[in-house]
Amino acid sequence: MTAPDRATTPALLQIDALLNHLRGRQALEEVCRFLRSSFSHYPWVGVYRVDGTDLVLDAWDGEQATEHTRIPIARGICGQAARENRTVIVDDVRSDPNYLACFLETRAEIVVPIRHEGTVVGEIDIDGNSVRAFDGSDRRFLEAVAAKLGAVVVHAAGERPPA
Ligand code: SME
Repeated sequence: MTAPDRATTPALLQIDALLNHLRGRQALEEVCRFLRSSFSHYPWVGVYRVDGTDLVLDAWDGEQATEHTRIPIARGICGQAARENRTVIVDDVRSDPNYLACFLETRAEIVVPIRHEGTVVGEIDIDGNSVRAFDGSDRRFLEAVAAKLGAVVVHAAGERPPA
């Protein structure tokens, strides 16, 4: 299943509305919750923030917490998206040696960089429960969401001391 384009324009408008009245981590948490509740093929949604040579989990929504709350940029699919400054879609995590396992159910993953003033400051990470869960419509939609989150991630970074 994918995020059909006809469903994503209203979703982007709703995200604009959320971002109009929330800031920082609270805004990121609401965006994660909104994405998960709007699209059934997004069962776990997280936002990582770049912190030096690591990615730190700033917000998430899903049934279970992940043990990967801090990931070196050198590792994982999350690290790959940040290093290569591009969206990474993995159709089947079981055949990707870079994959860092979080949940038994996960079969596919999409990671979308969040940029601020041209630099990667974070990323949206979504785990899917079926092989090939994500396609170009998810990429387009999530890249449009990520484009709204650069300043929000930077604001979140200033809300607490480095972990
Ligand atoms: N699977 C990711 C780690 C983060 S969890 O999916 C939440 C990776 O390979 O980088």
